[in-house]
Amino acid sequence: MDAAVNATTISATNVEALERDLIARIDASADDAALEAVRVEALGKQGVVSGLMRTLGQMSPDERQVMGPKLNRLRDLVAEAIAVRKAAFAEAALEAKLRAEAVDVTLPAPRAYQGAIHPISRVMEEMALIFGEMGFTLEEGPDIETDFNNFTALNFPEKHPARDMHDTFFFHPGADGARKLLRTHTSPVQVRTMLKQRPPIRMICQGRTYRKDSDATHTPMFHQTEGLVIDEKTTMADLKGVLMAFVKAYFEVDTVEVRFRPHFFPFTEPSAEMDVRCDRSGGQIRIGQGDDWLEILGCGMVHPNVIRNCGLDPEKYQGYAFGMGVDRLAGLKYGMPDLRDYFAADVRWLRHYGFSPYLLPGLAQGIAS
Ligand code: DAH
Repeated sequence: MDAAVNATTISATNVEALERDLIARIDASADDAALEAVRVEALGKQGVVSGLMRTLGQMSPDERQVMGPKLNRLRDLVAEAIAVRKAAFAEAALEAKLRAEAVDVTLPAPRAYQGAIHPISRVMEEMALIFGEMGFTLEEGPDIETDFNNFTALNFPEKHPARDMHDTFFFHPGADGARKLLRTHTSPVQVRTMLKQRPPIRMICQGRTYRKDSDATHTPMFHQTEGLVIDEKTTMADLKGVLMAFVKAYFEVDTVEVRFRPHFFPFTEPSAEMDVRCDRSGGQIRIGQGDDWLEILGCGMVHPNVIRNCGLDPEKYQGYAFGMGVDRLAGLKYGMPDLRDYFAADVRWLRHYGFSPYLLPGLAQGIAS
């Protein structure tokens, strides 16, 4: 501090010099600590400005009248300059912090795995799309079913060996003695639909089904897509036409040769299994060419007993039904050989076979694009 400035030698000139000196030092202070040092030196209890203020008391009234306003002004100017400088430091600090923490939202997302649609979900969407285009509605039913819906209404007689064919998971009997079960096929949704809806019915349903079975081509939980048409006049030729149109759209081939082999299902009469022509050479299955046949679904004309069990008159109504294994058809289309991998929850598998959530199946551009 200027040695000339003290309580005894105070003068107007000195006050101005002191003001310039303090303001210059305030403006030159580099950080909060330096600014605080100047403040203490000027306005602190022992500070030079505070010291000068105290000299007012020893002045003559005339002197005081001149020096009072000058010293007040000095004190206010210095305080103001300190506040302004302090605010500037705070603002600079905030800006530096924001700059340091800035996130550039225009940068591409890190190449972390971003999730994928499971091939089963994808294939069910494709199937729903194809049948939707052919006028089928989508129905639903629960995984836990009654014995009636899963078997009895579908014309499986009590104690009939066909029930054993299904390797059913049963629950413990309830208070009424009835055992619920995990549905062994999606066919009970046929029953549910007929019970709640008047014909004409043209529906598919999709979902999980369960059987006690486990190897490379069987998993205890698997998926089916079921179709049902009930009307006053339907034929096996309608069934064949719908299924051929489906196979062409699903496998994205222009021509496909199918054959219907007689089979037995309790709920259809006549019943058939449908095979598609395929080529198995080179360890791969190619649909629509070659000399082999591959079974892909079961179907038939709905048994009159089923129609009657669901409260409809079989003299008036008849129809056709079909059921296919989604997992199997997914494996065929997308080259996934072992069914067990589908449900192993291995993210590497899903990364390889999964689908981008942004690419939805569409009929216009080809179902799988
Ligand atoms: N429910 C049969 C099964 O899981 C598949 C099936 C066959 C469904 C023929 C049908 C059908 O609707 O008509 O083995």
